[in-house]
Amino acid sequence: NHLGVVAVGFNGGQCKKGVEAAPMALIESGLLTQLREDLDYDIHHDNIIHYYEQDIPAEDPDHRGMKKPRAVSAATERISSQVYNYAKDGKFVLTLGGDHSIAIGTISGTSKAIRERLGREMAVIWVDAHADINVPEMSPSGNIHGMPMAFLTRLAREDRPDIFGWLKDEHIVSTRKLVYIGLRDVDRGEKKLLREHGIKAFSMHDIDRHGIGRVVEMALAHIGNDTPIHLSFDVDALDPQWAPSTGTPVRGGLTLREGDFICECVHETGNLVAMDLVEVNPSLEAVGAAETIRAGCSLVRSALGDTLL
Ligand code: ARG
Ligand code: MN
Ligand code: MN
Ligand code: MN
Repeated sequence: NHLGVVAVGFNGGQCKKGVEAAPMALIESGLLTQLREDLDYDIHHDNIIHYYEQDIPAEDPDHRGMKKPRAVSAATERISSQVYNYAKDGKFVLTLGGDHSIAIGTISGTSKAIRERLGREMAVIWVDAHADINVPEMSPSGNIHGMPMAFLTRLAREDRPDIFGWLKDEHIVSTRKLVYIGLRDVDRGEKKLLREHGIKAFSMHDIDRHGIGRVVEMALAHIGNDTPIHLSFDVDALDPQWAPSTGTPVRGGLTLREGDFICECVHETGNLVAMDLVEVNPSLEAVGAAETIRAGCSLVRSALGDTLL
């Protein structure tokens, strides 16, 4: 049971300070100790919170409307190889973010490793209030944390090596192998992309209609039962009642139990190869920070096989 941990204190995919402090807060609250002692993982971690400061250029003007494109590109390129280095040896990779732009690094890294090790295309389960699949030109904000799935599926492409041109075919994920759960704040252009490319998406409406049990069943059925899975969990998928300390909260979200249930079911498939936990921002809604951190730890433990009984 080998677990590689990457602690990513990166905030350049959006404009609010504080999300870089999440990995420290999650680790200080005892998350890795719990995984080691209660769930029996052999933890591989350099005991460093990475801030990627040496990768951040002095000059970083907007490009195609993207804010800080070179900083995000350089940090995610580095994250991609950190994640790849664990995944290529068959270790499960847990990445603690950071804002959601870091998924450009984590998912490209596991995707490449799974291709090389198993000759397979991996699937992505993206649990989020948002679809994060804006092509730069249609982004309302210019924040790259709203774009990672566009670059990872090649719906957005950029050839400049310093602005995501380092993404090669082996890093890419097929739109057919992407499934969303928890959506409730999707931009107009994103809705059009989801429709045009037939991307599987379960919104909060679907969860209200069918219940979380049925939705997870349908999501896993879409992926098929012999496909490696990368779970990218944005804490804002949870209702602000359970996770208030996040940069872009949206009401009407998942309960903590529904979030844990998704993670437990994905664990039970036996196909989970990596998880990201992102967008915890302990400096927002300070009274709710401890709760948000506790919720984040619970999601990770659930995905790594903590069972109720
Ligand atoms: N759709 C909005 C945007 O593109 C919000 C994205 C929020 N993303 C997130 N990872 N919290 O700016
Ligand atoms: Mn690390
Ligand atoms: Mn989100
Ligand atoms: Mn997100």
